[in-house]
Amino acid sequence: MSAYVLAHLSDPHLAPLPQPSAREIIGKRVLGYLNWTRNRHTFHLREALDGLIADVKAQKPDHIAITGDFVNISLDAEFKQAIAWLRTVGTPDQVSVIPGNHDAYVAAMRDRFASDFADYLRSDGSSSGSAATFPYVQRRGPLAIIGLSTAVPTAPFMATGKLGTQQLDALEKILAGLSPDDAFRVLLIHHPLDTDRKRRHKRLKDAEALAALLRRRGVDLVLHGHDHRHATVWLDGINGKFPVVGVPSASAADDGKHDSAAYNLFEISREADHWRCDMRVRTSVKNGGWKDVRKTRLI
Ligand SMILES: [Fe+2]
Repeated sequence: MSAYVLAHLSDPHLAPLPQPSAREIIGKRVLGYLNWTRNRHTFHLREALDGLIADVKAQKPDHIAITGDFVNISLDAEFKQAIAWLRTVGTPDQVSVIPGNHDAYVAAMRDRFASDFADYLRSDGSSSGSAATFPYVQRRGPLAIIGLSTAVPTAPFMATGKLGTQQLDALEKILAGLSPDDAFRVLLIHHPLDTDRKRRHKRLKDAEALAALLRRRGVDLVLHGHDHRHATVWLDGINGKFPVVGVPSASAADDGKHDSAAYNLFEISREADHWRCDMRVRTSVKNGGWKDVRKTRLI
């Protein structure tokens, strides 16, 4: 049987940033707007993102996961742009998404992602009119994809995330009912599970509770964004360690200082009584085009 291929990209931070109205540009958004116009617009490039998506499509993955930060300062016009863009990437059958902290940048937009992206957030079997709730579970091929939301509005200069007890309790129940024989269990989360001291203002506040839960219940693969860099961390699970893998921003310029736009392909197959998962890292090359820069057997 050939492997099932899951593509993972994150943090598209869609450009260009629409012009905010005078009413929108208050509070935390002032800082975000200045940050975008002074720095970030040179780093998050629409052409880099378009090139990445073209390569993802050329690779013909079976499914695509996008782990948040579709927008920048949660403007109304940004959300309209983001959902239109997502529809060009794929249908809800083909793409699973979760929000990032920039998708809930200010309190007034806290629930906007869940309503605009609802079609992509539905658990299997839930009716099309129902509101999106986290965690969701979507079965795709051999995968059980579990989507979490860590996106909460925060004070200026903060980019922390939080799951909260309701999501953690629901996740515990979901994982208790999913054995590795049922499915290859993939968890989507925007924030990473470990953050060094220097980046405490960007951490997931209940990371320890989540890690303990995963140690109790087991999971096969965790995918995240947020840090805009390549990362593979191994955490303790039920039967040995499981990988937690982060990717750079999908629109990142190749500026020589940060990780440039990249995405990962996970090739998942069943071997005898266990799962096998190989990871291919794809990134753009200087004279155009994309290539595999690394292939690793994870599991
Ligand atoms: Fe981001």
